[in-house]
Amino acid sequence: MKLLEVKNLKTYFNISSGQVKAVDDVSFDLDYGESLGLVGESGCGKTTSALSIVQLLPKEGKIYGGEILLEGVNLAELNDGEMQKYRWNDISLVFQGAMNALNPVMRIGDQIAEAIVLHQKVSMKEALIKAGDILELVEMPRDRLMNYPHEFSGGMKQRVMIAMALACDPKIIIGDEPTTALDVMVQAQILNLIEKLRKEFNMGFILITHDLSILTETCDKIAIMYAGKIVEIAESEELFKKPVHPYTNKLIGCFPDMNGERKLKEGIEGAPPNMLELPSGCLFAPRCEFASDICHQSMPETVEVGPNHYVACHKWEEMINGQ
Ligand SMILES: Nc1ncnc2c1ncn2[C@@H]1O[C@H](COP(=O)(O)OP(=O)(O)OP(=O)(O)O)[C@@H](O)[C@H]1O
Ligand code: SF4
Ligand SMILES: [Mg+2]
Repeated sequence: MKLLEVKNLKTYFNISSGQVKAVDDVSFDLDYGESLGLVGESGCGKTTSALSIVQLLPKEGKIYGGEILLEGVNLAELNDGEMQKYRWNDISLVFQGAMNALNPVMRIGDQIAEAIVLHQKVSMKEALIKAGDILELVEMPRDRLMNYPHEFSGGMKQRVMIAMALACDPKIIIGDEPTTALDVMVQAQILNLIEKLRKEFNMGFILITHDLSILTETCDKIAIMYAGKIVEIAESEELFKKPVHPYTNKLIGCFPDMNGERKLKEGIEGAPPNMLELPSGCLFAPRCEFASDICHQSMPETVEVGPNHYVACHKWEEMINGQ
């Protein structure tokens, strides 16, 4: 059994101007100790996918279909009370700017310990010992437990948030742009740290980012999202060496050197579609240089084009042969 299987997930937002299909028929899985990168432009549904998994959607959002199987248990069917058993204990979320959620007038140690007491049946004293242990795990001395948030740098605060996410020994950590606000060096240190912990504890890790270049060394496999759908998913090496979907190719083309200069070479022409007025057929067609009639008429099916490599493009064979 896989650690996590997301099958045909559909999460939509109902707003006054209509329905936004933020996540539409998305499927992927994650094994113990495995890491998955979820990448795509702003608004493609990355955060909504994460919030669906932990069932923390805003009130306008609702899961309309599909399954989220955590070790076989369908989280999508649970009510909030039942879900609380899994949130933080089994799956925890580190989001962008999470460090700003720290309480400025409370010592770091008390904040971590409180989070532990909230989810596990331990005393505050035991929780404080555990808080010290996990602070050491994120490579900070345990005497920092006594400090207040303003005594930490941004990178250190984000480390504290990772410590909190680890507090209940989760099986999966989801990082939603966990390092975006930090400088490149600190970003790399934190991602390396998460990598180390993932391997040590055999955890699953989902890293959400709009920056494909940070995934090269971090993730075992990568899912490319576009306008609410996964258009390509493959093992990282395969994806970088043999990208098939035109959108993946464009995204990779944006980063001239995956290991060096990380600046965008050129953007991708055009913009993602208005989610309230989606085009018919392939959602990427308005921006795709290979689009033909069939692309504008029908939505491409997802096809397995190689081992563990899936693509949703009518012209996948031509794309492969053109390489
Ligand atoms: N509370 C909400 N109400 C209505 N629409 C929403 C809400 N939250 C998100 N959306 C819409 O759902 C779609 C997906 O948003 P989401 O935040 O998941 O994208 P994202 O890929 O995480 O983007 P970013 O890279 O900017 O964080 C967008 O079109 C967004 O406008
Ligand atoms: S289906 Fe057509 S429009 Fe869509 S990505 Fe493939 S070639 Fe481009
Ligand atoms: Mg987001």
